[in-house]
Amino acid sequence: MKIHEYQGKEILAKFGVPVPRGIAAYTVQEAVEAAQKLGGPVWVVKAQIHAGGRGKGGGVKVAKTIDDVKRIAGEILGMQLKTHQTGPEGQKVRRLYIEDGADIQKEYYVSAVTDRATQKIAFIASSEGGMDIEEVAHSSPEKIITVMADPKVGLTDAQAKEIADGIGMPADSTAQTVDILKKLYTCYMETDASLVEINPLNRDSKGNVMALDAKFNFDSNALFRHPEIVALRDLDEE
Ligand SMILES: Nc1ncnc2c1ncn2[C@@H]1O[C@H](COP(=O)(O)OP(=O)(O)OP(=O)(O)O)[C@@H](O)[C@H]1O
Ligand SMILES: [Mg+2]
Repeated sequence: MKIHEYQGKEILAKFGVPVPRGIAAYTVQEAVEAAQKLGGPVWVVKAQIHAGGRGKGGGVKVAKTIDDVKRIAGEILGMQLKTHQTGPEGQKVRRLYIEDGADIQKEYYVSAVTDRATQKIAFIASSEGGMDIEEVAHSSPEKIITVMADPKVGLTDAQAKEIADGIGMPADSTAQTVDILKKLYTCYMETDASLVEINPLNRDSKGNVMALDAKFNFDSNALFRHPEIVALRDLDEE
């Protein structure tokens, strides 16, 4: 089962992973109200569908005025958003997420999945965030690192630092990145997720690190333990 970005970010936030402030909206009017509540000065209007590649497909847009938010929300809501993950017919956009616009300096990639063979938690990370990891794997595989966390001991400080260093995170952001990775580990384990992916993990010009996207997958055989996650199901997307 998949969930929407805004739902994933709410889970990340619960585990202490920094995310921008944002509000979900089902209508243009709600999008405008959300933008007013957030206050700006920059917003990002994001289509909520269970497929990646929304940015390239025209489903993620920056707004600098409330009028922009209104216009963009009107354009995106109801559109058939086509991405490389939706198939040629696209997916109809029924929900939006209005979010604080972040100051992007450098985008990184980080994800956690369980390695079937060893039952360890594989942290896959890259300096090349903001694009498809399959693309990076194809064009510059040396820019992807993998660190295996043993569930008996968790992700150690040394491993988290190895990831931060491995993706080239500047030294003044290492401590925060280590903290985020350890919280991501806890989040992955406690939600029984089969995949958590943050792409991009942004470092802003002040050195603050924050998740700008969130993708969660759950195996159906783990869901009976998590009614709170089953409640996030969106049947329009399945
Ligand atoms: N809150 C934000 N502030 C500024 N820029 C943002 C914000 N959210 C997203 N972006 C920009 O838009 C891009 C695409 O957004 P996002 O990763 O959420 O959607 P996506 O295209 O569906 O992702 P993916 O390709 O991983 O499936 C990001 O890489 C980032 O550059
Ligand atoms: Mg993304």
